[in-house]
Amino acid sequence: MSDTLRPLISARRIKKRVAELASQIAEDHRGTPLTLVIVLKGATIFAADLMRQIGIPFVIDFVRASSYGEAARSSGTVELSDEERLDIAGHHVIVVEDIVDTGLTISALVAALSQLGPASLDVCALLHKHVAGARPVAIRYKGFDIPDAFVVGYGMDYAERHRNLPGVYRLIPEA
Ligand code: IMP
Ligand code: MG
Repeated sequence: MSDTLRPLISARRIKKRVAELASQIAEDHRGTPLTLVIVLKGATIFAADLMRQIGIPFVIDFVRASSYGEAARSSGTVELSDEERLDIAGHHVIVVEDIVDTGLTISALVAALSQLGPASLDVCALLHKHVAGARPVAIRYKGFDIPDAFVVGYGMDYAERHRNLPGVYRLIPEA
């Protein structure tokens, strides 16, 4: 099966924006206990680049959230795993996500994590997709706004493929 891919955001633009986000995060959190909660699996490449540019101490942890399964549309339910074991009480927490689409996943995560007593809770997302009827989500650290299209690359997949592409591509569905 061959997917058609169209370039949307180059590796070069991503690199520049990631450095800007990292400086902003460091500036805002100097001298405070900071935890990055990285959402598996899609945010791993973004988070790996982001982390290496944040010049202040922080700790990391991971949660898994899945809403898509094998499909290219959100299934409407979000499965979280393991979030109860995160030790974030009193920490300033930034949830690092690849993409906010309907907002369902990030809303579910923020609701679950806020139960664990963080000192603050913000969202960092590489991409914000603009879809009609999406729930409003406050993204304090946002990479790029994108139109309503399915994208892959830079950690994001379609049925586990294309995560290794260095840039973000639009996946064109087969006719
Ligand atoms: P939401 O719950 O609809 O906001 O979807 C967010 C999650 O779905 C993200 O964490 C991604 O893993 C996945 N997702 C949403 N849109 C895309 C896309 O265009 N490509 C790849 N994954 C996506
Ligand atoms: Mg995801």
